[in-house]
Amino acid sequence: MPDKEPVQIEIEDLAFDGKSVGHLNGKVVFCDRGLPGETVLARITRSRARYSQAAVEEIISKCTDRREPVCPHVRQCGGCTWQDLIYARQLACKQQQVVACLEHIGGLENTDVAAIRPCESEFFYRNKMEFSFHVRPDNGFNLGLHRRGRFDDIFDLTECHLQSDLSNRIVAWTREFVRSREIPVYDVRDHTGFMRFLVIREGKRTGQVLVNLVTNVGSMPFKDILVSSMCVEFPQVTTIVQNQTAKKANVAVGESEEILYGPGYIEEEMCGLRFRIMSNSFFQTNSRQAEVLYETGFELLQPVSTDRLLDLYCGTGTIGILAASKVAEVIGVELVPDAIEIARKNSALNNIGNIAFFQGHVKDVLNSDALAGQAFDAVVVDPPRAGLHPRAMKRLMRLRSDKLLYISCNPATFSRDARHIVRQEYSLHRVIPVDMFPQTKHIELAALFQRTK
Ligand SMILES: C[S@@+](CC[C@H](N)C(=O)[O-])C[C@H]1O[C@@H](n2cnc3c(N)ncnc32)[C@H](O)[C@@H]1O
Repeated sequence: MPDKEPVQIEIEDLAFDGKSVGHLNGKVVFCDRGLPGETVLARITRSRARYSQAAVEEIISKCTDRREPVCPHVRQCGGCTWQDLIYARQLACKQQQVVACLEHIGGLENTDVAAIRPCESEFFYRNKMEFSFHVRPDNGFNLGLHRRGRFDDIFDLTECHLQSDLSNRIVAWTREFVRSREIPVYDVRDHTGFMRFLVIREGKRTGQVLVNLVTNVGSMPFKDILVSSMCVEFPQVTTIVQNQTAKKANVAVGESEEILYGPGYIEEEMCGLRFRIMSNSFFQTNSRQAEVLYETGFELLQPVSTDRLLDLYCGTGTIGILAASKVAEVIGVELVPDAIEIARKNSALNNIGNIAFFQGHVKDVLNSDALAGQAFDAVVVDPPRAGLHPRAMKRLMRLRSDKLLYISCNPATFSRDARHIVRQEYSLHRVIPVDMFPQTKHIELAALFQRTK
């Protein structure tokens, strides 16, 4: 049973999911706030056999790495869990977590883990943000982000320091437009209403902005006035789309899309090339730091002009397109058909002729006639957070490429996969963490495996 009285806890560490960690009577306690070196007064909210969870009520003694957060929403928002920690210490924690995952999950001690590459901009680095509409109990509505730890509650956002001031102004303007025209907001409890999400994507280099209104099924009310007045207010908005979805799942993706204004996509520049971004296509959300990530990957991979490169989980083709001028040939594989279409367009946009794409599950494409009998000198994998599917792993190992570059957004699944890869005639040459998401718990890394036999 949770304790009624608050208890004093010394915070020792930060956990992988952004929580802080201490001990009480020998048992691990995960707290919702607090930094290493601090003493907090916390109420136990859940008690399990091996650990407890606690809500911090007061920070009794502060550590020297604590700083004043810039955002007024920091306590309620699920985004910037580490904004009150100085950036140097955020980096040190991420570095340490990569090493800990490699040791504890991967069983890999003494791995060469380079110093994490920091992000030049601590704030306003995101090129994409997703805001939710949410009906309040008083029948008004909020437009904003998820309350910390709550998938079912949204607070009304006035400012966010992760995308741009322009994005904040578009949120406020859209909220007022929907409120003043009394457009119904979607209610997740009975699945009625219309407005579901507002997604804003910005080309940080090109200045182009895409506004995506995700709605229930039906035509956008006040469509013409919405488009004309938004474009007058925000000349940076170069395209507006409406995505309609009948699905109950709370995801900001539509089954059908209508272009309300502009070409339906924006462009971004990266490493001197140009990339097209549409409402639903994957694109790294920190453009500048994605360049650092990809450059880091190429620094590890050392591609040469005779290499045949396989780019698995290629999304809109960014890695393969950037590598194409360095190698003989690139093959990209991706699940989402729209992403493949954009990847092909992006290749044409940049006059890349030595690249081809296949659509499908990596595990299936690796087993298909399309790739039968083909050999690759280098393979890049950049899977989603879940890491490599066991069958994808098995078929990847069968390729026996000399070099395997693994880009990961999850050190835990990366370490699990690394444990397997090093048992298959590969050695883990080097890991380089890259901080793509300052203020948050998210960690990205690039790692090179080399074939030993
Ligand atoms: C982390 S993103 C990497 C995208 C790309 N490499 C880039 O840097 O822009 C992962 C990609 O894997 C794709 N994906 C997810 N599961 C897949 C699967 N089973 N087979 C192929 N692609 C998959 C997703 O659609 C997404 O585009």
